Amino acid sequence: MQLPDEALSFHYQSLLWQPKPDEEWTPRVELQSQHFLTPQRLRDFQQRINQVRAQVATERETAKPGPAQAPLDSAFIDLPDRLLMELRRNPQACELTRIQQAAQRLREQTDRVVILGSGGSSLGAQALREALLSACHNELPAEQRVSTPRIYFEGDSLDNDALQELLELLQTVCVNPDVREERWGAIVVSRSGRTLETAAALRALRREAAEYYGSKSPWPRQLIVPVTAETDSPLRALMKGDGYRDEEIFAFPERVGGRCSVFSAAGLLPAAVMGLDVRALLMGAASMTRQFIDEPFERNAVLQLAAVCHLMSEELGKPIRVFAVWSRKLAALGRWYEQLVAESLGKQGLGPTPIACVCSRDLHSRGQQHQEGRRDKLILNVVVKQPRSAPIPIGMADRNEDDLNHLSRKTFPDLLEAARKGVEEAYLEAARPQATISLPALNEHTLGQLMQMLMLATIVEGRLLGINPYGQPGVEAYRRNLHRLLRAAPAATRASASPH
Ligand code: PA5
Repeated sequence: MQLPDEALSFHYQSLLWQPKPDEEWTPRVELQSQHFLTPQRLRDFQQRINQVRAQVATERETAKPGPAQAPLDSAFIDLPDRLLMELRRNPQACELTRIQQAAQRLREQTDRVVILGSGGSSLGAQALREALLSACHNELPAEQRVSTPRIYFEGDSLDNDALQELLELLQTVCVNPDVREERWGAIVVSRSGRTLETAAALRALRREAAEYYGSKSPWPRQLIVPVTAETDSPLRALMKGDGYRDEEIFAFPERVGGRCSVFSAAGLLPAAVMGLDVRALLMGAASMTRQFIDEPFERNAVLQLAAVCHLMSEELGKPIRVFAVWSRKLAALGRWYEQLVAESLGKQGLGPTPIACVCSRDLHSRGQQHQEGRRDKLILNVVVKQPRSAPIPIGMADRNEDDLNHLSRKTFPDLLEAARKGVEEAYLEAARPQATISLPALNEHTLGQLMQMLMLATIVEGRLLGINPYGQPGVEAYRRNLHRLLRAAPAATRASASPH
């Protein structure tokens, strides 16, 4: 069900330039003619993009990809629909119910949950946490967190100090495992089950859990929940060695890659622990898939986004993709999008370079370059129309040295909107190409649409470039070297060395 007032919209008309017969020549017209798309070019491109849509739609039905197609991690496309359908058909025993039950256990039994994962196996959950929970969530008193544990992310960076700080926090605040407020748990997400960052952090947490709860305690098995592939996963083997039954290990769905896994247990289990409405997330995502598959170009945000991004990058010399989110709550979504584009499209010497920025914050650092730097950028704004909380007024003050009294009736959203329109006009004036994705509000349903739209558009872009957007063969080079070097070198630092 698509609630009309919650449908995301994409505005790319500001990228189009139509020569007018009687228009006077000005430097601005000249620049726009060089850096904007003509409506005719976009119309001509529709045949090609419709072919690619048909290819992507067919690929999702390919049960067993041949060697030339592999990897073909296209099962993410129908995953939201599939999970919702299973819920309708078999509410007692479907994947979503299992996810909710495990989340409920963590919510009832712990006050802190550490989510371990790397790259695509973590960034989706981070994006949801930042967008939909309070930025101060972990500091809020328990009553205000309404049985939602504090959330931490680890296992993505081999950073000694960050992990040590987390372990010290757990050791300081958790002293009595019999008390719910002093129990902690973990979700460990790794499709391969062999990513060093995640595996090493899990080992440290398991050691911590054994010391805290006791090696014979049932708590670690109840409170450390793994999400990993069904076959060939050392993580699965490790957990089974601990006595986990298969149904206690969530399966990374087959043919779903890390960066497109947010609507599997990899993202949904953390989301459910955070108390988010996972059904609304999936409904938003499923509605975007339907739009992608069924709608013509004029009503198809995925095709429009993929087409303008591709043409800007490949034909108009704009390979830098600035993903400008107009809400600080979307900063982590920006990191998720950077990873999605970089790992999917940065192949065979091709692909755009994604750079996320947060507005208005980064107007004070990057705005200058966007306005006057090299003309190699497409700016993709993401705008949220309604803030989640009540608008804060500027208000009247007795002292007016800050000269804000004339804005007393304005609110923060008014100021942000004025900044956004000011930037939009300035970019247009200087022929700096920009397009805007608008969300009516920030909630599970709109985020579901947005994330699915961005994933689908990235896959379409990959096919337009003629590369395989799935898989990340380039990352293997560093992994091989890392393991070779670790095997060869003696330990540089002694585990017992005290930092102080
Ligand atoms: O998008 C991807 O597939 C990658 O970023 C992976 O998520 C990342 O490398 C972590 O891999 P794994 O889930 O196997 O630990």
